[in-house]
Amino acid sequence: MSRTSLSAIPPYVFYELDARRAAARATGQPLLDVGIGSPDGPIPPVVVETMQRVAADRSLSGYPYFQGHPLFREAVAGYLHTRFGVTIDPAGELLALAGSKEGIAELILAHTNPGDVVLIPAVYYPVYARATLLAGAEPVYVPFLPDGCLDLDALDAATVARATVMIVNYPGNPTTTSVSLDELARYVAFAERHGLLLLSDLAYSELSYDGYAVPSVLQVPGASRVAVETHTCSKSFNMAGVRIAFLAGNREAIARLDAYRANIGYGVSTLAQLAGAAAFTHHAQIVPPIVAEYRARRDAIVTAFTAGGWHVPAPTATMYLWLDVPPGLSDWQWVDALIEHAGVVVTPGMAFGDAGRGKFRVSFVQPAEQLVRAAEGIVATAAWSTAQRR
Ligand SMILES: Cc1ncc(COP(=O)(O)O)c(C=O)c1O
Repeated sequence: MSRTSLSAIPPYVFYELDARRAAARATGQPLLDVGIGSPDGPIPPVVVETMQRVAADRSLSGYPYFQGHPLFREAVAGYLHTRFGVTIDPAGELLALAGSKEGIAELILAHTNPGDVVLIPAVYYPVYARATLLAGAEPVYVPFLPDGCLDLDALDAATVARATVMIVNYPGNPTTTSVSLDELARYVAFAERHGLLLLSDLAYSELSYDGYAVPSVLQVPGASRVAVETHTCSKSFNMAGVRIAFLAGNREAIARLDAYRANIGYGVSTLAQLAGAAAFTHHAQIVPPIVAEYRARRDAIVTAFTAGGWHVPAPTATMYLWLDVPPGLSDWQWVDALIEHAGVVVTPGMAFGDAGRGKFRVSFVQPAEQLVRAAEGIVATAAWSTAQRR
C-alpha cells in the first residue's frame, strides 16, 4: 500500500458537525451542544496556581526536556503507583505527550511502515484510523463480541501476521464499554503471541461510577514486555485545553517514539507538564468532585430518557451515552432533525467508523438541567420523526 495522501482521507466528521452548528447559530437559533466531549468544568485551583507560578519563573522559560520534566515524570510515577499499584522507571518507561490524541498519532507513525496493519476496535476514536492512513498502513477493524470485548478470533492469520500495532480503548469512547483486568490480560497475551505492540488508550481512567475502578493494562503481570498506555489530564482533571498527557510502559516503544519526536519537535511545554504534575500529584483530591458532578449528570439524563419511555442503561464509566438513532433515519438526517426541532447537537455514530452508523453520542458536558432538556428534546424529536413517517 502506498502512502495515503491527506486528500484521500475522508473529512473529519467533527469539522462537518462544526459547520452545521455554525450554520444553525448563524440563523440565530440557540443550541444545546452535547456533541463534543470537551469538559466544561474549571481547571482545578491547584493547577491554576501552579501554572501562574511556572509562567512567572524565569528559570523555566527555555525549551522543555524532550522526554519530560523530572517533576512531571516523578508525579506520574507516583500517580501510577498509588492509583494502580504499578511501578515504572520514570527515566525510561515514560514520555510526556502534548495530549494523547497527538501522542497516539505519533506512536502509530513511529511504529508502522507502509503496508503494515494496525488492529483497531470496530467503533473507535478517529485518530487511530487516521494516523494509520497517514502512515500508509492499513487499519483493520476488530469486531466486538456482544459484551463489548474484542473478537480476536474473527481475525484471519494473514492479517494478524501483517499487524504491528493493536489498539484497545476501555472504557471506550463512544461505546462506554468497560472491561476487567482479565480481559486486558487476554489482549496482552494476544499481542505477545503475535509480536504486536499493544496500545491501551486510557483516556477515561478516572471517570467511573458505582464502585467500578478502571484498570490499567500495566497491572497485567509482564505487560510492559509488549504494552504501552496513554493517560491524559483532559478528562480526569478538566484540562483538555492545556494539552498534557503521557505514555507509559514498554521501554523500546517509548525510546522509539522519543527518537521520532526529537526530529519534529521540542517535547511538551514546561507549563503544561508542570500543570500536569500538579494534577497527578493531587489526583486523590481533584477527581472525586469531578466524578460526583458527572455521576449526577448521568443520573439526571438517564432518568429523563426513562421518563420519556427510552430504555437507556446508565454507563459505569466515561462521560457519554451511546444511543440508537430512531429507525428510518441516517445519522446525518437524525443530527439535522435534532438541530432543527430541538436545538440539540449530538455526534453522529459514523464519526467513530462505519460500525458506528445507526448510533449517536451524547456527552455530559452541560449542567444536569440542560442535559434533561436535551433528553426531552431528543425524545420529542424521535416521536415527531416517527409521526412524519406514518
Ligand atoms: C478515547 C480517547 N482517546 C484520546 C482522546 C484525546 O485526548 P487528549 O485531549 O489527551 O488528546 C480522547 C478525547 O476525546 C478520547 O476520547
